[in-house]
Amino acid sequence: MSDENITEDVALESRLTEQEYFRPPTDFVGQANVSDPGIYDRFDENYPEAFEEYAELFDWDEHWDEVLDDSNPPFYEWFTGGKLNASYNCIDRHLDERPNQAAFIWEGTDTDERETITYRDLYNRVNAVAASLRDVGVQEDDVVTCHLPMLPALPVTMLSCARIGAPHSEVFAGFSAQALADRIDDAGSDVVVTCDGYYRRGDFLNHKEKCDEALELADSDVETVLLWTRHDELHPEVEISDDDPYVLVDDLLAENDRARVDPVSRDAEDPLFLMYTSGTTGKPKGCQHRTGGYLSYVTATAKYVLDIKPEDTYWCAADIGWITGHSYIVYGPLALGTTSVMYEDTPDHPHKGRIWDMAERYDVDIFHTSPTAVRMFMKWGAEYVEDYDFDFRHMTTVGEPIQPEAWLWYYKYIGGEDAVIVDTWWQTETGGHLITNLPALEDMKPGSAGKACPGIQPAIVDDNGDALEEATGRAGNLVIQRPWPGMLQTVYGDDERFIDEYWREFSDVDSDDAEDWVYKAGDGAVHERDGYFRILGRLDDVMNVAGHRLGTMELESAVAEVEAVAEAAVAAREDAEKGEVPDVYAVLREGIEESQAVYDDIVAAVEDEIGKFARPANVVFVDDLPKTRSGKIMRRLLENISNDDELGDTTTLRDPSVPEDIRDQVRGD
Ligand code: PRX
Repeated sequence: MSDENITEDVALESRLTEQEYFRPPTDFVGQANVSDPGIYDRFDENYPEAFEEYAELFDWDEHWDEVLDDSNPPFYEWFTGGKLNASYNCIDRHLDERPNQAAFIWEGTDTDERETITYRDLYNRVNAVAASLRDVGVQEDDVVTCHLPMLPALPVTMLSCARIGAPHSEVFAGFSAQALADRIDDAGSDVVVTCDGYYRRGDFLNHKEKCDEALELADSDVETVLLWTRHDELHPEVEISDDDPYVLVDDLLAENDRARVDPVSRDAEDPLFLMYTSGTTGKPKGCQHRTGGYLSYVTATAKYVLDIKPEDTYWCAADIGWITGHSYIVYGPLALGTTSVMYEDTPDHPHKGRIWDMAERYDVDIFHTSPTAVRMFMKWGAEYVEDYDFDFRHMTTVGEPIQPEAWLWYYKYIGGEDAVIVDTWWQTETGGHLITNLPALEDMKPGSAGKACPGIQPAIVDDNGDALEEATGRAGNLVIQRPWPGMLQTVYGDDERFIDEYWREFSDVDSDDAEDWVYKAGDGAVHERDGYFRILGRLDDVMNVAGHRLGTMELESAVAEVEAVAEAAVAAREDAEKGEVPDVYAVLREGIEESQAVYDDIVAAVEDEIGKFARPANVVFVDDLPKTRSGKIMRRLLENISNDDELGDTTTLRDPSVPEDIRDQVRGD
């Protein structure tokens, strides 16, 4: 998406192909958790009190006094005066009713390696790890940074932190040492949790080395690193010397085998975790999520949107290292007491039928994945699916717009034309779903996320912040007009940035009246005539690579680390599989010739600063970058070049020939 001219005064809808609707199957409707269409009015007429219905889904130590305190916008407070513990609500609460039910079924890279973790096991493990965290000095409110892959250790560690009231900050395992160091510093963590290794495409990766390097790069003095081990023995390349801050989790657990740790009663507004995400500046933002409002919102949306019931086998094939995994692998599903499937490695390892093989073996009812994964499955072909006998009742997509062709393929080949699909729009910041259909109530329409969730009030505004008429099919900026319980509390340690990034543009920031405050999502969207929202993509300098959110500024600062580079800009190129991929346009310093070596250095810099998943698709060496007269780089033009689109208006440029030259160069003219 380009960053300008989104609110052109045209009916964009008329240029989009109108899609047909698909009715949810009658069998689904008959058993759905929500089948009363009155839910929307109930929430609208009784806002914000209706959200009590969400908070009542679990146990509180103390009831709240007020549902929403909006006296100091945008620092809203939810369920004020209430007290609860998230770990208690995800585990202990289920022990009477379902101690022997699996909370997680985990499968390793080798599909014969399987672990079933019952709610009772989870209780034992979390207590032992919580005691171990205390042993190394973690106290309530200390932020614990985790850098863990998809092993049972990850949800166990998160829930152990939650048990003792220490917010966790999980950094996706694919992030580099530098990215980990930046997040450790920003969160000010004294304690880090990682593991020795994990498997990717069958290779046993040394994961600890990233943490070793991060400790060197970080400014903070990390006191202790807890090291989980993937096997009984340490990874063959991993060593621990006496002066390292590493402590083996197994050694601590040996001491705490039967430990019991009372869940700490947290204020509803106490933070539960931080999740760093990319924004429009180089530095990632620590989205801070509260305990009561967040848990209420993700539990309720897991129940109403994902239709999870305790007796289901549910599989969200995302990574817990991103918000989807936090909300819809760990907190929501566990609070509902269901069984979740988790696995290590990639969907094509050991073979391209792995996902469907697992779906059959575990008899999965509900499946949750990204459009990138659907496009990949589609590319591999239906023959990898056909051999397996599985039957999903419900399927989800999340993270990117899904093209109607991919949606239809998912519906037909994965859903067997009798599963419902929800396309869920939300963000790290929103905590849980904001726009998506309640599956038994609305018809599905490929490519449209659907209606606003109960109590949520999205609108489309023009660049001046004026709301466009509802349901007229015009494109504009997507905003949310009322607070909701799952929203982030702030950007960790930086309230000003919280206001600047999300509120300033469309709010009256001097007002004390919550009605004058409007949350800016950063996405472009269309409110279609049928009331469904179609999400177009980011309007700011953020791209979405295979469902991973990346800031162009972050990528550009990584490229700027390369000595040979004088200046660089990054543009998003559309990609049939990954949605978007980054193209780097680099100007080299005087006297430096372009070469494969410089190209490789640029790619390596991005991998080192961020991670391999952010690897540029192309590096283009150019003489100059398109700039306005005031010197601002016009990334939109580079994006048009990358996508072979019309260049559009270049009159504001200092030198309009620059983008034309680059275009000719890229086209090979
Ligand atoms: O651009 C939107 C896109 O992903 C962004 C949020 O990314 P992140 O914070 O990493 O969270 C991803 C998982 C919730 C949004 O600003 N996005 C998310 N869901 C959808 C989507 N775009 C279109 N359709 C969706 N369903």
